[in-house]
Amino acid sequence: MKYRHAFHAGNFADVLKHVTLLALLRSLTKKDKGLLLLDTHAGRGLYDLSSSESKQANEAATGIERLLVQAAQGDATFTGLPEITDFLNAVRETRQRTSFRQAYPGSPLIALAALRPQDRLTLIESQPTEHAALREAVKNASRYARGHGGTPESITIECADGYARLSAWLPPMERRALIVIDPPYEDTVSDFKAAERASQEALRRLANAVIAIWYPIKQVKDTDAWRSRLISALPQKAGGEALSTLTLELWIHPLDTRVGLNGSGMSIINPPFQFEEHARRWLPALHAMLDPQCRGGCAVR
Ligand SMILES: C[S@@+](CC[C@H](N)C(=O)[O-])C[C@H]1O[C@@H](n2cnc3c(N)ncnc32)[C@H](O)[C@@H]1O
Repeated sequence: MKYRHAFHAGNFADVLKHVTLLALLRSLTKKDKGLLLLDTHAGRGLYDLSSSESKQANEAATGIERLLVQAAQGDATFTGLPEITDFLNAVRETRQRTSFRQAYPGSPLIALAALRPQDRLTLIESQPTEHAALREAVKNASRYARGHGGTPESITIECADGYARLSAWLPPMERRALIVIDPPYEDTVSDFKAAERASQEALRRLANAVIAIWYPIKQVKDTDAWRSRLISALPQKAGGEALSTLTLELWIHPLDTRVGLNGSGMSIINPPFQFEEHARRWLPALHAMLDPQCRGGCAVR
């Protein structure tokens, strides 16, 4: 596999994914009962946006760096949007405690910022070099993390195939889980299919699992077709009722433009109570900040 997330870290698609992750955790940690967060494609945990890989296409310039500039200028669009503030705080805290000039936290460190002592975190990464970096990043970050400083036994990091490990981790003893599926889509068709199969498998093992799948938007007809297939193949609730699903999409180029990536989406199965209402406030604000010339758009459906 050639994929290295360092080339893309902190871009507008990472921002959507990480704000969504924190927004989901904000909702799910309202109940005292613990949960398992299972990150099937964890990456290396911590990125240096001043590295040669990140600087190659400088994708973070139109992602996290754009957002931080607007925040520093006191952009009023942030007011009353704790989901975006949580994300900016997680990035700022990471920058304060690491030696990288432009550190950016990946999904594992974003999760650590929000999990509590009663929650567990399982991180799976298949590439040995990325996995080794992930172990180091989590070891350093967990000293500062809110819930996990004293309880490293609640964090597990595996070098394995994240899809294959679902059956080992589900159902969890807490009977509550958030599963984040964020494949590289190097082989786009096979990762779309694998994410579909993984969701079905996870729901067979834990019907109330909250599943968040990140996906790229290049050609709208392809992603729309995939989303319909994903939703129609999901198992039904006990009474034959369809499971609840929600899609958040944000694109910064006109749809179907021939750039590498027009936009991205998060497909959420079993979204938490009132999550949609909140997303309808923070997503347009996030889009306005990431796409000030309004060439793209966003959607909650
Ligand atoms: C998009 S990156 C993950 C980024 C990370 N979730 C974040 O938000 O910071 C995808 C990662 O999945 C890893 N990977 C690819 N195939 C995998 C598999 N089958 N199981 C686990 N990890 C895999 C890649 O090495 C890469 O680091």
